[in-house]
Amino acid sequence: MDEYYLGSSEGEFNRLKIQSNVFNRTSTTIIDQFFYPGLDVVELGSGVGGASFMIAQKLLNEGSLRCFEREERYAEYLQNQVKSSIFTNIDIYPEDITTYKPNFSFDRLYIRAVLHHLKAPFPSISSFISSLKVGGLMVIEEPLIRYTGQLPTNSILMKWGELNFQRIMDVGGKLAVSLDIAEKLKEYVEKYGFKVIVQHISQTNLKLKEEKSILTQWLDMHRDELLRKKAVNQSEFDDLYIQMKKLVSCKDEPVFYVPMMQIVAQKVV
Ligand SMILES: C[S@@+](CC[C@H](N)C(=O)[O-])C[C@H]1O[C@@H](n2cnc3c(N)ncnc32)[C@H](O)[C@@H]1O
Repeated sequence: MDEYYLGSSEGEFNRLKIQSNVFNRTSTTIIDQFFYPGLDVVELGSGVGGASFMIAQKLLNEGSLRCFEREERYAEYLQNQVKSSIFTNIDIYPEDITTYKPNFSFDRLYIRAVLHHLKAPFPSISSFISSLKVGGLMVIEEPLIRYTGQLPTNSILMKWGELNFQRIMDVGGKLAVSLDIAEKLKEYVEKYGFKVIVQHISQTNLKLKEEKSILTQWLDMHRDELLRKKAVNQSEFDDLYIQMKKLVSCKDEPVFYVPMMQIVAQKVV
């Protein structure tokens, strides 16, 4: 079974909440354009529900939203959020999307920042793809992970890039298999019988101190593993960490976050 390698520790829970708000800034346009009242929607890997509630706001309690999230902690959190919201048409499925077989059909399949966590992204979700109605839309947003920290505007992140971001992300080979899925989305969706209607790359900044802290949180969580697997040596790590801390506290220097590949594709067969 594919594992969500980042788990559901307090740190990752917190990081996911902040990241979700950051991603929401670039998801708005696509969600505004392709979601409206009356649609039946399925979301895979909802996490803490940042995009879920944006979608729910578009449906306005007409139609339905089914959120699939395997990590118990996130699914429970989502369930509580739903209970205290005005929405009556959201159902949470604490299920593994790679094994679940839907016995219902729907109009939209929304997936944000999940596919790169799956060893075989498209084959793993093929039962959901089959249950999407012909004419329905698959909306995917995936981070272009290899391009994080490659922007010349930020010297510290450039240093991160020089240290070979991919080498760091590959630690334990856990992410490596689907690291470049965002770059291959068009190829995949066409192979699965979809016609691409929109494809673009969006990017936002980490602005607030809290937002920028997701970079140091990530380093904190992976310190031991990065060192043990020799992705960085101790002095490289310490240096990077100090630089990152400075960047986080520096009010006037926003940081470009990972660019997102967004694709909207219509099922034609
Ligand atoms: C990076 S998070 C993205 C969360 C959310 N989509 C967002 O954009 O804020 C990836 C999420 O996918 C979930 N996930 C990964 N593999 C899964 C699987 N096989 N079944 C269900 N959920 C999965 C993880 O638990 C995690 O919450």
